Amino acid sequence: MKQIVGIVGAGTMGTGIALVAALHGARVVVCDDKAASLERGQELLGAALRDMVRRGRLDASALDPLAARIDWTGEPARLALADVVIEAIVEDAAVKRRVFAALEAVVRPDCILATNTSSLSVTDLAVGLARPERFAGFHFFNPVPAMKLVEVVRGEATAPAVADRLAEIAAGWGKLPVAVRDVPGFIVNRVARPFYAEGFVALAEGRCDAVTIDRVLQDCGGFRLGPLALADMIGHDINYAAASGVHAAYRGRTRFRPQALQARLVETGALGRKAGRGIYDDAAPRAEPLF
Ligand code: NAI
Repeated sequence: MKQIVGIVGAGTMGTGIALVAALHGARVVVCDDKAASLERGQELLGAALRDMVRRGRLDASALDPLAARIDWTGEPARLALADVVIEAIVEDAAVKRRVFAALEAVVRPDCILATNTSSLSVTDLAVGLARPERFAGFHFFNPVPAMKLVEVVRGEATAPAVADRLAEIAAGWGKLPVAVRDVPGFIVNRVARPFYAEGFVALAEGRCDAVTIDRVLQDCGGFRLGPLALADMIGHDINYAAASGVHAAYRGRTRFRPQALQARLVETGALGRKAGRGIYDDAAPRAEPLF
């Protein structure tokens, strides 16, 4: 029987995960509480598929059947038959908890509930769930179709079989699952925090412009993207929330401190690519910076 994958949140990550799941044959139901987000998610996914066809990675004849495997809905009840539901909404523990409480009321008793959180504690998010043993972290990276790594995070209550099943699903989707303890920032968001922070500091101190900072790290450091271009791609709201979460979890350790420039980007709505402006005004890596 076809795997049924529910996704909550039709943003950058939800859309990417939906695409990968559908490409691997799953039936997918994407649920978002905003009609505009559902519309944008469909556009993003359509654009990604057309791009794959253009690059010869997907046959054009696969487009219609693939689109037919994905339902877009504002109605959580449509997730009732899912084998696994992956949440990819705003990085806010209170909002995520509300969503999972509502999900528990509609999904099957054996449905796995997973969060794509970058930085929140899986153990904490599970507090209040009727069945915390079926809840785990399932952390994909952006852009989902291109990034192999998936952190599978076991909270204190997560059943080992649930983490194993998620790792199996990720491997079936061509990913590289890595079992991770529920520590702040997991692996990647802990190691990468100073990478972003030092990029912001260098820019704020006027050492050089954003393009130079990114080029140095990209062309000489061997990173696929420099810290500022990468933060534009992630979304500054998400990146700032992750930075704040990791900083708080490590009791304010200086090296994890979020930067004032990040706060300013969020306050001014310069959220990066998804907003059309961020560090770069058209959010393209070689463009002139706004700040
Ligand atoms: P986004 O801002 O692109 O999309 C979030 C989506 O969630 C929006 O479509 C919004 O309408 C929807 N949403 C918000 N509240 C909702 C609710 N109560 N019910 C249903 N839908 C709701 O965010 P993005 O970047 O996709 O991030 C989502 C999650 O994935 C966050 O937890 C983030 O930390 C994590 N993440 C993000 C990465 C990135 O590079 N952007 C990388 C890895 C993880």
